[in-house]
Amino acid sequence: MVNDFGSLKGLLIDKIKKNGPISFKDFMALCLYEENLGYYSQDEIRIGKHGDFVTAPHTSKLFGYLLAVQIQQFFEILENQGQELSIAEFGAGTGVLAGDILEYFKRFSNGQFERLRYVMVEPLSKRREVLKKSLSGFKDNIKIVDCLSETGRFRGVVIANELFDAFPVHLIEKKEDEFFEIFVDVSSDEERLVEKAFKISDEALKDYVTIYLSHLPNGYRTEVNLEMKKWIDNLSSSMEKGFCLIIDYGYSREDYYADFRNRGTLLGYSRQRVTEDFFEYPGLIDMTAHVNFSDARLWFEQAGFVAEGFCPQWAFLGGLDMEQTMEKAFGRLEPFSPVLASVKSLIFPQGMGETHKVFVASKGVDKGVDLKGFKMKNDIVRLT
Ligand SMILES: C[S@@+](CC[C@H](N)C(=O)[O-])C[C@H]1O[C@@H](n2cnc3c(N)ncnc32)[C@H](O)[C@@H]1O
Repeated sequence: MVNDFGSLKGLLIDKIKKNGPISFKDFMALCLYEENLGYYSQDEIRIGKHGDFVTAPHTSKLFGYLLAVQIQQFFEILENQGQELSIAEFGAGTGVLAGDILEYFKRFSNGQFERLRYVMVEPLSKRREVLKKSLSGFKDNIKIVDCLSETGRFRGVVIANELFDAFPVHLIEKKEDEFFEIFVDVSSDEERLVEKAFKISDEALKDYVTIYLSHLPNGYRTEVNLEMKKWIDNLSSSMEKGFCLIIDYGYSREDYYADFRNRGTLLGYSRQRVTEDFFEYPGLIDMTAHVNFSDARLWFEQAGFVAEGFCPQWAFLGGLDMEQTMEKAFGRLEPFSPVLASVKSLIFPQGMGETHKVFVASKGVDKGVDLKGFKMKNDIVRLT
């Protein structure tokens, strides 16, 4: 069911009339996550060919199968022989990736499936209900929680596909040699939402802008994802040992704040179309910003992790026993099988191959590791 966006718009207008303008970040948080009204708080999230946007797990089950190959190597390195094997997925969406990874372990893991515990961490109750239903076939292996600390100190593998891009971001713009933060206000006729720029007052944002963005020219608009740091710090406090595998669209700092990207990366998606009109249909469109992987690396390291690798999705997936894994997923394929079209979308630069990046960090893993996924390419040094 699609929500009544009029209600969210009304709620936003009332809130702003009562308490004054809200930051774009708070606006984005309400649009995505407000109970019953936010984009992700509805019964159905429209991911997939007939929805608003497509993610890798919805493109081909090969994605989950290939990640399972990397996860098996993580488990080998973690050496918890005979003990429980844990995966924690954050922001599992509709549960497709979890289903594919569990299916791979069930079919091909020589007894590991029985020891596999798959935790899904999802703060929205609507999403947790949907996950419970869609993964009922794996009910003995799964646990659905709203916060990882519910499971005790975590040892194992954390995964997140397209999670960071769904975090609310601060929107900023430089004018007359000073950065301002964009807020959302109501128009004088009190019917529309409009932008209003204020001097930056958030201390963490002020520091970030001073350290990393002061060189940018006037007129430059961009976004800063400080929620990502909070998430990494939280993860670190509940994670004792293991690997964290992050997949998302994004860039190194240098590419993120390139001169030509002077309108930032913030976009809305509705029915496979891109929109920048965030104020007309709040709650009805997905809102997302690319990920700054240099920030991710720095914040993971500050939180006690070791950055293991960074590369485009094509290179990562290409290192994971591609041919054998394809055969496991689909059997022997004919040369022009339609299945190949979706596999190409995962790998080709016109699809997700180049735009999507993979970043891996480890915690408490003392020996040097040569991860399969970074066999073809490891650009970690670019994350400065
Ligand atoms: C873009 S969707 C990703 C969907 C899925 N991973 C996929 O690849 O199809 C983002 C998901 O992250 C969830 N989410 C947002 N903030 C989160 C957080 N702090 N912890 C866990 N999940 C979160 C949202 O509720 C939503 O389900």
